[in-house]
Parts: sequence; C-alpha cells; structure tokens
Amino acid sequence: MDIKEILRQMSDSEKIDLLTGHSSWYTNGFDKYKIPCIRMSDGPYGLRIKNDNCPTLESTCFPPACTLANSFNDSLSFELGVALGEECQENKVNILLGPGVNIKRSPLGGRNFEYFSEDPYLTQKLACQYINGIQSQGVGACLKHFCVNNQENYRLTSESGVDERALYEIYLKPFNDIIKFSQPDMLMASYNRFNGMKVTESSDLLIQKARNEFNFSGVIVSDWGANHDRKKSLLAGLDLEMPGDNNYSKQTLKEALEMKTLDTGTIDRSCSRILSLVEKLSSKEIKNYRYSRSEHSQLAKKISAEGAVLLKNNGAVLPLKKGENICFIGDMGQNMHYEGEGSSKVFSPKVIQPLSALKTYGIFPFEKGYILSQNTPNRKLETQAIKLAERADKIVFFAGFQPKKESEGYDKSDIKLPANQLHLIEALTELNKPFAVVLFNGSPVELPFAEKVSSILTMYLPGQEGGLSCAQLLFGELNPSGHLAETWPLKLEDNPSYHYFEGRPDLVEYRESIYVGYRYYIKAKVPVRYPFGYGLSYTQFAYADFETVKSKIGIDVSFSIKNVGPKAGAAVPQLYIGFSDTGVFKPKRELKKYTKVFLDKGEERKVSFRLNDSDFAYYNITKKKFVSETGTYTILIGQSVEDIVLKKRIRYESADSAKSPYDTNRFQSYYNLTGNIFPEDEYTRLMEKKYSDKRTKKLPITMNSIFSDYRLTLSGKIIYKIFRKAYVNNVRHTGSVEKKEYVIDNEEEYLKQFPNLTMNMICSVSTGLPHKKGEAITAIANGKFFSGLRRLIFEK
Ligand code: BGC
Repeated sequence: MDIKEILRQMSDSEKIDLLTGHSSWYTNGFDKYKIPCIRMSDGPYGLRIKNDNCPTLESTCFPPACTLANSFNDSLSFELGVALGEECQENKVNILLGPGVNIKRSPLGGRNFEYFSEDPYLTQKLACQYINGIQSQGVGACLKHFCVNNQENYRLTSESGVDERALYEIYLKPFNDIIKFSQPDMLMASYNRFNGMKVTESSDLLIQKARNEFNFSGVIVSDWGANHDRKKSLLAGLDLEMPGDNNYSKQTLKEALEMKTLDTGTIDRSCSRILSLVEKLSSKEIKNYRYSRSEHSQLAKKISAEGAVLLKNNGAVLPLKKGENICFIGDMGQNMHYEGEGSSKVFSPKVIQPLSALKTYGIFPFEKGYILSQNTPNRKLETQAIKLAERADKIVFFAGFQPKKESEGYDKSDIKLPANQLHLIEALTELNKPFAVVLFNGSPVELPFAEKVSSILTMYLPGQEGGLSCAQLLFGELNPSGHLAETWPLKLEDNPSYHYFEGRPDLVEYRESIYVGYRYYIKAKVPVRYPFGYGLSYTQFAYADFETVKSKIGIDVSFSIKNVGPKAGAAVPQLYIGFSDTGVFKPKRELKKYTKVFLDKGEERKVSFRLNDSDFAYYNITKKKFVSETGTYTILIGQSVEDIVLKKRIRYESADSAKSPYDTNRFQSYYNLTGNIFPEDEYTRLMEKKYSDKRTKKLPITMNSIFSDYRLTLSGKIIYKIFRKAYVNNVRHTGSVEKKEYVIDNEEEYLKQFPNLTMNMICSVSTGLPHKKGEAITAIANGKFFSGLRRLIFEK
C-alpha cells in the first residue's frame, strides 16, 4: 500500500471517514483504494463476538487477568496471548481490545477482575507476555485504558487527581514499560479526565507522554463513546474514534477544515497511522484458520489451576482423599462465578461446574444451602445443609460473590460475602468439624470466619474450565501454586484509598499518592488478612545459598530453592528492594523481580536475578525523570511481601542522585504513614494545585452532565425517567439474545450505571440518537422548552 499516494488521492471527506470507525467494531474500508476494513473485538479473555449478532461463533472463556496474575507465570500469559490470537484469526478479528492494565487502587473497583494487580511491575511483566503472544499471531493488541481510570462510578466525568510522582511510579508505569518492551498496535484513551481535560482531548497525555516520552507508534483509539469534541481530540493525538458512524464528529471535522482551524497535516498524520495498521494487520490474516478447541480448553484449565490460591490450610481437610465421608454445600458449586460482567463477558458454550467435575472422585452428598442470587438466609435450605454436615466427616463449602457484584459500569459498595452465605458458614463452623471454604471472587473478600475454618482456597474467577481445576486442586491431583497479585485487607476500611475512593462526579482525589496496596499496608503497619504475593502449597520450600555480586552492569542476586515437602509443586520467589527512609519518602519495599519454579519432591534449583539502576529509582518531580539515591538498601527474597526468607543489606552508589523535592515537615503524613487519612494541605502541596471543595456547578445541564443531574429540574426529571426506561427497553428490543437475558435477570444491576451516563455517551454509542437531538433534549432539561422542542423536531 502506497500510503502517501493514497492520502494524496483521498478526499477530505474520505479521510474523515477513516478517522471514525464503521459501526461498533470495524474501521472504514475503501474498495476504490483497495483499503480493507479491519475488525476489533472485546476481549480480553475470550472473544465477545457471539454477542455481535453472530450467534454461531464460539470462543473460549479463559480466566480473566485477576486469576492469570495470581499465576505469577509469564510464559502462561504468553501462551494465553497466542491462544487468543488464534481465536481472533479464526474469527477474522484483527485487533483484540485488551489487555486492561489499570492499577487496582481499591478492592471496590468494579472492573478489578479485568486488571492484573495493585503492583505496576507484575502488571507490566504479565501484560507484555500477553501482548507478545497475541501479536505473534498477526493480531494486534489494544492496551487499555490509558490512563488513571481506576474506578467505574463517575468514569465518564470525573477528574483523577493523581500527583505527578504517583502518576509515573504507579499509574503510568505499566503503560510506559509495556510500550517500551512490547509495542502494542493500539492504545485506548479512557473516559475520565486528567489535569482538567478529558483524556481523549489531552495532548499532554496522548502526544507528549504516550508518543514522545514512551515512544508509542501505533494507533490511539477512543474508548467506546469517550470522544467528545472530535476536533479537540484529533489535535490532541486521538487517531480513531469508536464506535463509528458518528456524523456529528464528521461534521465537526469538515467545518474545522473549512474554517481552517484544523490543517490537513494533522488529519493525514492520523490517517497514515490507521492505514499502516490496516495494511499490517490485514496482510497477516490467515484464511480458513481453525484453532484447537481441546487445546484451548486445556489452557483455560491450566490458567485456572495456576491462578487459584490456597489461603489457609491446617491439613485437616485438604487435600481430600477418595473414599472419605465428605459433604459439599453451597449453590456456587453448581453455579460458580467464573467471569465478570460488562464488555469482557464471554458467552461460552461450555462451562464445567465444580459439582459435575467432582463426580470423577466419587458420589458425594450435596446441599445447596443458600440461593446464590439472594441475600437473605433460607431456613429450609440451611437446615438441610446442617443436617447433611452433621453426618459428614469433612465439609467443603462453595462461596463467593454474586456474579453481578463484579461488573464494568459500577463499583462495589463493599467486599463482603452475601449475608446468607456468611450466616450458613457461621452455623457450620459451630459443628467444629474439618471445614474448607472454596471461594469464587474477582477481587478480595472480607473473611470474618477465617480463623474458624481449616482451609480456604480461592479460585478467583476461573473461566469455563474452573470446575475441573477446582476438583483437581481439592483432591490434590494438582498442587496449588497461585500467589495473590493484590493484598486482602482484614476489612475494606483499612484500604489506603478508603476515604477518597469514588470521590464525586467531577473529582476523585488520589490522596494516598504512591501508597497503593502493599506499599501502604507494610509501611503503615496495618495488619492484613493475606499479603500481596502470598499463597500456600501442599508442599514446602527451603531457601538457601543467598549471594549478591556487584558488577559494572548491575547486581547479580542468586539463591537456591529446594522442595522439602511431600509433593511436586511450584514456588514463586519474589525479590523486593527494601528502602531505608533517607531523603525521599518511599514505600518500605517494592517488587522488582519474581519467577515461578516447578520442583519435584526433593528437587533443588538455583535462581538468579539481575538488578540494575532503574530498580533503585523513584520519580523525581524536579528533574522530571527517574533517579536513585545513594544509600543502604536491602535485597529481600520472599514467599510474599511479608514472608521474607532471605535478606542482605547492600550499599548502592547512585550515578544520578538528586536533592529530595520534599520537605519532611511539609509532607509528614507521607513520611510517617500513620493511617489512611492524608490531610488536605499536604495533598494540595503534592498536587501543586488546589481543588475546589465543591463540585463544579451542576446547572445548567450539559452534554457531559451525568443523568442524575437531570433530576434537578422539572423537565429534566421527566427526561431522566424516559431515558432510564429506554435504556433497558433498547436492549430488550435490539440487544443480542444473551444481553437481553442478562438484562431481564439483572435489571437492577444494569440500571446502576444509568445515573452516571451522559447524553454525550448515549449519542456516541447508540446509533439511534443524533448529537443535535441530544443537545435539543439538554436544552429542554434546562427549561428552554419551546426552542428545545423545535430543535428536537427539526434538527437532524
Ligand atoms: C470499555 C472498553 C471496551 C469497549 C468496547 C468500553 O465500555 O471500557 O474496555 O473495549 O467498551 O466494548
């Protein structure tokens, strides 16, 4: 494809067509220039294409990132990427919309299950391999959601108030490193705002940071409906607007060209990037490709097994043995929660439930005990379950979050199990029998019963094969090897972002700055239920022969691990660098390396890591780059961030030291973490700006107002009601079979998103309502009834 020549021949209006997609999932193609369209699909852990009016297409429902991340297994992530690439090839999908690499700031984040970790390094390592895997198959990966989009409530309107250091060290870090090491073909700009601007309109983020600093060379696409002003977004570096067919945007660009407020150079640059991508990916399509169903099922099972984490085990129940008098209780055992809701939902043709997989090991009595979709205890079911448990020698209880609790579009309001599950667990613990709890959850769960039970195994969200690996792990046919990619707090209130998470529709303050997850808990000495990096096995490992050798190229660290327990298994040694409090405030320790080592019974292996300067660095806001401090550091090897098995102090000389930008007296709460309250004055200093205490004016209503603000005016109230109804009815009449079923079953949950939607979003994603009509309705909501009505009738 001679891109320069094509651009010379294309008319302005054709170029404008190229800058916005065609329908929901395609770019625009042009037969005249032999430019094909390319197809995108959600993702990211199985293709969401069955939903796209293609009822015959199948795809594997792999475990999502929350589970994959627990595996701490880079090569498994690569294998998954390859498999997804193959499924894309078969289904003629050129770009998979993933991975999502946003940091888990709070366990409440509705989409946490789609993200990897609270730690940027673990996120980056796994996501790089995932992308390398997909792109090795001639399919593009789309890194999302760039950036600081760490919650679902108010995601369309809120400003993420992150200070520059936390931005670089925590939130941008995975994006930066992934672009550097894996160069994904696409980058998705998120819905939220940053630094007073919509991310899609921020040239600082899209051009200065993504392109100039991180060297991103692919196409930048808007999250679906995240574009607002197309001229502004194009000038800010947003190449492609999705979904497509947005006539309002096209008209905006045409007018801007005519008025000469937009030059053809800007248009050509973005068109040229899109055309290069179309050329690259369309040339890699493989005709009549068919992936192996059985291999992909096997892989889904392997990931779910490696992603499961044994949280507690006193040996009284697990591993189970054939022939024992075991009873199984819990509706989750026959209706497991295996994936999250929202754009990543895969409609899998096959899901293996734990109860059916357990049949391989014997015939076991089962009682439902509670109804998964309900919260209140059911007396009859509970009595039956307790009676059953009284007759058994061992009890295994299936518990977890109700699937609708974990979804795109809204956050959780707590991290508790439903009351009926807790009630029955409590009653069963009173029997004082060997008792194991198996959990299905996409994020941390409060476990008030943890001390009273013998074992806890979390399957996280195990995907379609989850039941199989669950049964094999319970019976010891597989040995648990997952480690937590996020901290499990004792209670939600302990989380560092607890007082600030969610914020208000126009602002969310990230007051805890760099103290995300374990970076906070360890330094603030806040006890947790299970620390980051933690996970048990049916075997044990011994660590020895610790050496650190300095050389010109870095510090070589080595040690040996031996399997000293009764079974083959896998260890996950983690290297942390411990910082002493010198000039700059820092976390106590940070993850810098990890690996996964599979060892037979009695086997021993040597593990080596190399550290370099960047591992000692922090982001210096004065120098505007990562630098390190000369001083004493500790090299720590742990089985979790808390369980340190080897350590050594070393002296490190920095080649590029810098003065601390922080005065200890003015940032006391960041130097001496005493809890999760960070005073406003210190936060203001950190931000180098003051946010207003009040929400920006709610009136007049604009295209970017959230729908709940419509209720402030009389006409707005009526509009709110009509749109709320239409929001559900639209799916009922035009949605795919699965979406209809989902909405009918979960209307209340689905509607949770509605108050936070904007008219702009509705007009951009639904082809039904043109932008101008949306503006007319907004005018009516502001009391301009007659002029609004006239525009509504006559505007196109
Ligand atoms: C989500 C994206 C997704 C897109 C397309 C958006 O709502 O945030 O992750 O890829 O929809 O479905």
